Amino acid sequence: ETENPLRPKHLEDYIGQEKVKENLSVFIEAARQRKETLDHVLLYGPPGLGKTTLAGIIANELGVNLRITSGPAIERPGDLAALLTNLNAGDVLFIDEVHRLPRTVEEILYPAMEDYSIDIITGKGQMAASYHLPLPKFTLVGATTRAGQLSAPLRDRFGVVLRLEMYSPEELAQIVSRSAKILGIEIEADGALEIASRSRGTPRIANRMLKRVRDFAQVTSNGVIDYNSAKLGLDRMEVDELGLDANDRRMLSTMIQYYNGGPVGLDTLAAAIGEEAVTLEDVYEPYLMQIGFLARTPRGRVATKAAYLHLGLQPPAEGSPEQ
Ligand code: ADE
Repeated sequence: ETENPLRPKHLEDYIGQEKVKENLSVFIEAARQRKETLDHVLLYGPPGLGKTTLAGIIANELGVNLRITSGPAIERPGDLAALLTNLNAGDVLFIDEVHRLPRTVEEILYPAMEDYSIDIITGKGQMAASYHLPLPKFTLVGATTRAGQLSAPLRDRFGVVLRLEMYSPEELAQIVSRSAKILGIEIEADGALEIASRSRGTPRIANRMLKRVRDFAQVTSNGVIDYNSAKLGLDRMEVDELGLDANDRRMLSTMIQYYNGGPVGLDTLAAAIGEEAVTLEDVYEPYLMQIGFLARTPRGRVATKAAYLHLGLQPPAEGSPEQ
C-alpha cells in the first residue's frame, strides 16, 4: 500500500459520516473489550467517499494489519486461499469492488467468512485431492458502490453493513483545510469552501481539486488559496459552480439534445457519450441524482427541469408528453 498522507488513521480524525462513525466506534470498542475479531464489515456508497480510508482506520483502531486487494484481482480460489492463509489472527482483509469477485472465489469465501476455514481441491482426476484448511480468524471489510450489486448470500454474511453518504460542503471544507495543512498549502476559509462546494460531495475530488488549484495559485499569483484563486483554478478546469465537469455536462446535454431529455435507456446513453454504463451509474449519476438533475425511471433516465435551466436550455412545457 502506498501511504497517502491525507488519509486519517484514527476515527476521531475522520470528518463526516457521523452515523457510520458512531456505530463503528461501538462495534470496534465492543470487539476490543471482548478480545474478539470484529464481524465482517460491508461498506457501500459512491466512489471516493473514503471506503479504503475507513478500512485502514478499522485495522488501525483494532491494532491489526491491513491487507488490501480487490474483487477483480482475485482470479482463482487459490489466490484467495493464499491471501487468507497468510493473515495473522485478527487481521483485516480489505476487498475493494467485492461485487466483482469471480463466482468460484465467492463460493470459497462463504465458509472462510462463516467458519474461518476453506476446502480447496487441487489437481484433476486421479490426482485430485481435497484439503480442509483452518484459517486464522479475520475481519473481511468489503467495499462496493452499491449493495444491490452483491449476491444475496455474500451480502448476508456481513455482520456490519454501513452506507457512506455524500459529504456536505462544510464537511468537505474541513477536509480540504486539513489536507492543505498536511501538504503545507496556505488556504483561506472561503477558498476551502469554494473548492468544497465544487467537489460533488466527494473527498477524493476535493483533495484532487485542492492540488490543482494550488498549481494555479502558485503559477498565476502568490500561491495562497483564497476565494479568487480557488474560483480561477476551478473555472480553468471547467468545473462549474455546482461541481459539474465537462463530462457531467456532456451527459446531460446529450440526453437533452438527442433524446428530448429522456427517458433514455442507460446503455443507449452510455453508447452515445462513449462511456461504460457502469461508469455512468457509479460515477456520474449519484451526484446528478443527489442535486436533482437526473431521475431514474422504469423507462430510462430523465433530465429534470433544473438540469435544463442549469445548462441555459429551455425546459419542455409543463405536462408535455415527453416527460
Ligand atoms: N480524507 C478523505 N476522506 C476524509 C475524511 N472523511 N475525513 C478526513 N480526511 C479525509
